[in-house]
Amino acid sequence: MIIAVDGPAASGKGTIAKALAAHYGLPHLDTGLLYRAVGIAVLRGGGDPSDEGEAFHACAFDEALLTDPGLKSEAAGRAASIVSAHPSVRAALLERQRDFAHQKGGAVLDGRDIGTVIAPEAQAKLFVTASPEVRARRRFEELERMGLAVTYDHVLGDIRARDERDSGRGIAPLRQADDALLLDTSTLDVAAAVATAIGLVEQRRKG
Ligand code: DC
Repeated sequence: MIIAVDGPAASGKGTIAKALAAHYGLPHLDTGLLYRAVGIAVLRGGGDPSDEGEAFHACAFDEALLTDPGLKSEAAGRAASIVSAHPSVRAALLERQRDFAHQKGGAVLDGRDIGTVIAPEAQAKLFVTASPEVRARRRFEELERMGLAVTYDHVLGDIRARDERDSGRGIAPLRQADDALLLDTSTLDVAAAVATAIGLVEQRRKG
């Protein structure tokens, strides 16, 4: 079974995808990490993420980068959102994601375009969302726990800018697939969100 989990930044999609993978015993790919690796590779090379040529070149990043703690930073997220709007970057990362989705037994992938572009044939598709304010609050608290000096307003501004870029780009924009089930986590804690997600996947499996 292929399970596609899409949604905006800090919606909880990563946590939900990981929990679904554990529940169903499936491998999991956080596809945002691939774009983050490209973004960080550009930044560390002193390049500009909005330069398509530089971003494309960075798609041949060193695999060790995928476990680099720097990938979780806000700078990496911002750079990822910028490089991910380049068609040649999306094309360079496409096959790797499709291969992962189509491995024997299935897989769980989370990102922005899994249900629409990477695996439109997925048996279960979830679109995980939450209000920008709730997502900013979660991200803000996470960054504070990491000891970073940030303000809530700054994080909210960043989330809104990222939403706009990810939804407004010409290629593979963030959008709910027609056959995806919507899961709004605004008022749910992690346990409730995961339980709801499993219920929705079961609905598709039986349907
Ligand atoms: O899920 P994330 O915050 O780690 O993703 C970082 C950026 O990567 C996101 O702002 C847009 C891009 N991305 C994408 O365009 N398509 C995906 N499937 C996953 C991420």
